[in-house]
This record gives sequence, structure tokens and C-alpha cells, in this order.
Amino acid sequence: MENGEDVISSSAPELAPALQKKRKCTTIKFVVAAMAIGLLLYLCLSDSGDEGRCNLFHGQWIPNRSGPSYNNASCKFIDDSDNCLRNGRPDSHYLYWRWKPYHCDLPPFDPVVFMNRMRHKSWAAIGDSILRNQMQSLICLVSEVEEPIEIYHDKSYKARTFYFPNHNFTIATKWAPFLVKAVFNENEDGKDNSTIQLFLDILEASWTNDYHKYDYILIAGGQWFLKTTVAWENNSVIGCHNCGTKNLKELGVYEPYRKALQHVFDYITSSDHKPFVVFRTWSPDHFEYGEWYNGGICNRSEPYREGQFNGSPNDHNMKKIEVEEYDKAKVVASKRGIQLELLDIFHLSLLRPDGHPGPYRRFDPFHGNKSAKVQNDCLHWCVPGPVDTWNDLMMKILSKSGALNLLTSYEKPLQGLELLYFQ
Ligand SMILES: *[C@@H]1O[C@H](CO)[C@@H](O)[C@H](O)[C@H]1NC(C)=O
Ligand SMILES: *[C@@H]1O[C@H](CO)[C@@H](O)[C@H](O)[C@H]1NC(C)=O
Ligand SMILES: *[C@@H]1O[C@H](CO)[C@@H](O)[C@H](O)[C@H]1NC(C)=O
Ligand SMILES: *[C@@H]1O[C@H](CO)[C@@H](O)[C@H](O)[C@H]1NC(C)=O
Ligand SMILES: *[C@@H]1O[C@H](CO)[C@@H](O)[C@H](O)[C@H]1NC(C)=O
Ligand SMILES: *[C@@H]1O[C@H](CO)[C@@H](O)[C@H](O)[C@H]1NC(C)=O
Ligand SMILES: *[C@@H]1O[C@H](CO)[C@@H](O)[C@H](O)[C@H]1NC(C)=O
Repeated sequence: MENGEDVISSSAPELAPALQKKRKCTTIKFVVAAMAIGLLLYLCLSDSGDEGRCNLFHGQWIPNRSGPSYNNASCKFIDDSDNCLRNGRPDSHYLYWRWKPYHCDLPPFDPVVFMNRMRHKSWAAIGDSILRNQMQSLICLVSEVEEPIEIYHDKSYKARTFYFPNHNFTIATKWAPFLVKAVFNENEDGKDNSTIQLFLDILEASWTNDYHKYDYILIAGGQWFLKTTVAWENNSVIGCHNCGTKNLKELGVYEPYRKALQHVFDYITSSDHKPFVVFRTWSPDHFEYGEWYNGGICNRSEPYREGQFNGSPNDHNMKKIEVEEYDKAKVVASKRGIQLELLDIFHLSLLRPDGHPGPYRRFDPFHGNKSAKVQNDCLHWCVPGPVDTWNDLMMKILSKSGALNLLTSYEKPLQGLELLYFQ
């Protein structure tokens, strides 16, 4: 007798393939088991064991001496109204905090990695001035690697496009404060001289016209729905918000916002163009001792601790509507192979009453008179400031979902220093 296999194959040839299959099966099972054990070990030993429990948006602000990676002198792309350092804000404590999710770490934004992955790519940021606020931070963060040139701006600098020639990378901000179409009737000095006409079922063309051109979309809105508006649907007026004497049905802000978001998400999830879409949640304000129009201020110089401040019911409702509509859209997006992610900055921003310009929305607001009455901005954010964390989170979201993966988005072979970084 030689070996068993020969015996079987000679005496019962019809059984041989079955047995071989069985052996193959055993081998495969062994390999699969080994891989599973390897994977388990890997999960236990590496950080990613926590990834399952990690909710990036649940955590706390902890003091950190490193501070921001740029300032008003190193970055020249900060709007005057958000440039708290330049405008003379005296305290700088607000710059030395780091967001720490409970079950994992949020690495700081890495401009070298980000810019390399963004070669030949483009971003559109669609929304209001708070989104522009975040984009200033993003541009400052990446301008350590390359400074952009501005290749477009509209008359009022609300829509701007920046281009990074060495990376063939574009960042455009699209002015669409309601995301849906709005007609303003502004007079010469930019003040509204009549009520805003809001078309809830028509998207703002400033972004839909160009949507197909972008690889990445960051989109957010909300605050403008608090304004006085007349709302239209199906070509007729359906009511208004806050319009007083006009004898129209008061719609409030929630239903108009929900309808607008539904149209936005419908567009995104049914589009043939499939960019990577990040939807950012409601950014809370921190006016105290009044509102923005009647002397409200934000003079705190430290973050709130968990539970110390909960925001207004309005904040929570707007955020809830966003998450509900996002969740619905996410299901459709997944089915269609569209990457749609949530950047939920609401809670972590709620804890940062110290991150707003306050009186320092203007240069030297007090002119030496500390008791002078000055309008405060407790809605936008200082740059640098807590908005930098929004971009840290955005980078983390991109890398978690593979969008910053070297193989998929880097098209040229690595060279020189890049080899050192990425091998
Ligand atoms: C401060 O932040 C930096 C960058 O995020 C981090 O590397 C460092 O460990 C932090 N230090 C402390 C004390 O948390
Ligand atoms: C930056 O801000 C500091 C004050 O914090 C000021 O002394 C300096 O002149 C500013 N530089 C620029 C370029 O704005
Ligand atoms: C720049 O990127 C665009 C895609 O966004 C591409 O079509 C174009 O060929 C690139 N230009 C160069 C010079 O690589
Ligand atoms: C608002 O201003 C625009 C531009 O100056 C003007 O054409 C329009 O008639 C004004 N509307 C009202 C209601 O005053
Ligand atoms: C507008 O039209 C759509 C369908 O065309 C309908 O579902 C919706 O109820 C209409 N809205 C109003 C306010 O009439
Ligand atoms: C903020 O301003 C209020 C009202 O003027 C004052 O009572 C309070 O002490 C100030 N808080 C801080 C931290 O300066
Ligand atoms: C400072 O501002 C207050 C409030 O506006 C005003 O009453 C006071 O006269 C000002 N003082 C000086 C020296 O200008």
C-alpha cells in the first residue's frame, strides 16, 4: 500500500473528487479560523477595538497646551468678523481645549495627509456664513501645506472659490443660506428691505447648477429659517414665519426647515452624480442677558461641563429634524451607493460658549472705553477656535469611511518625502 490517496483514487475513482473537496474545505476552514483569530487579536491589540464603541460626538473638552496650529499672523484667510485675535480679544484660554470622545481619540487635522489625498479633487461647501466660518478654518489648516489663490468671489464675498495650484485642489463656498431658493430684495447697503420669499420646493440654483462638478460636498443650514419669511410651495404662498400683520398662516420654523431638508436630501440621493457628502448639524448660539438684537452677550471664557447648559428647545428641535431627515436619506443613499455622512457638531459646540467673537467681531471694538455699548456676535465662531475641531472630525469621518485611503484617491506614484510619510 502506498498512500491513501492513491488507493482511493484507484479503487473508487468517483469518490476521489468528493474527498479532495472535503480536504480543501478543511484547509479553507483552517485558514478562515486563523484569519478570524488574527482579526480578533488585531482588534484587541489595536485602537480600533474601541472603534465600535466610539461615538466621535460624545465626549468632553479637556485642557490641552498645544493650542491651534495656526493663528491670525500665519493664516491670511480669516474674515475680519471671525478674526478674534486680530480684533483684540484679550483672553486666549478658549484656544487651549481638545475634544476627547469618551471611547477613542480624535487625532488633530493632518494637513499633509489631507492635501495629498485631495490632489485633483474639489470640495463645495454649501450653506450659510457658519459654513463659511468652518471653511476658513479648513483653509487655514491646510495652508500650512499650500496657500490657495482666490479664483472667484461674488460681489459680497459670500461665495468664494479657492484653488491650490500645486495640488490641483479646489475649495468652493456656495452661498445658499436656506439651501432652497430665497429671494431677498436687498437694497444697496445689503439690508433686507422686504420680507424674504422662500421657495420650499425649489433648491437654490447656486449649488445645484454646479453640483456635478464636485467630489466632496459639505452642506448645512438652519439658522436663516429663524428669520421673517414668506413661504411658497407649488407656486403659491402657503404661509409665513413671523410676518405679523400680513394675514398669512404662521408656519413656525420647524416644518419649513424639514421640507427644505427633504428636498435637499431627495436631490442628493437621487442624483446620478455621487460625490462624498457630509451633512453638518445645527450650530447653537450662546447669547446671554438678551438676544443678538437687544444687547445679548457671551462673556464666558471656559467651556461648560457636561450637563451645565442644555441649549434652547429650538436648538434641540432643529437638530432633531436634521437627524431624522438625515437618517431617512442615509438609507436611500446606501442603497444607491452614495456616501452620506453626518458631522454632528451640535452637542460639542453647545459646550463652547467661550468660542464666539462676542464684541470682537470688529477691530478694537471698545476704543478704550470698556463700558461702551457694542453689538456682540455669539453665533459665529472665532477662527482659530472650536470650529477647528469640526474639521478634525470631518477628517476623521473621511478617513473612517476610506475616502482618504491612499490607493483610492492618490493617483500619482509616491515620490521623495511623500514616500517617507506614507510607506
Ligand atoms: C494635546 O493635543 C495633542 C494634539 O492633539 C496631543 O498629541 C497631546 O497628547 C495632547 N496633550 C494632552 C495632555 O492631552
Ligand atoms: C494678530 O493678533 C495680535 C494680537 O493678538 C496682534 O498683535 C497682531 O498684530 C495680529 N497680526 C495680524 C497680522 O493680524
Ligand atoms: C486637475 O483636476 C481635474 C479634476 O478635478 C482634472 O480634470 C485635471 O486634469 C487636473 N489637472 C491637472 C493639470 O492635473
Ligand atoms: C428694495 O430695494 C431694491 C433695490 O434697491 C428695490 O428695487 C426695491 O424696490 C426695494 N423694495 C422695497 C419694498 O422697498
Ligand atoms: C404640492 O404638490 C405636491 C405634489 O405635486 C403635493 O404632494 C403637495 O401636497 C403640494 N403642496 C401643497 C402645499 O399644495
Ligand atoms: C458677564 O457679564 C455679566 C453681565 O454684565 C456679568 O454679570 C458677569 O459677571 C460677566 N461674567 C464674566 C465671566 O465676566
Ligand atoms: C463710555 O461708554 C459709555 C456707554 O456708552 C458712555 O456713557 C461713556 O460716556 C463713555 N466714556 C467715554 C470716556 O467716552
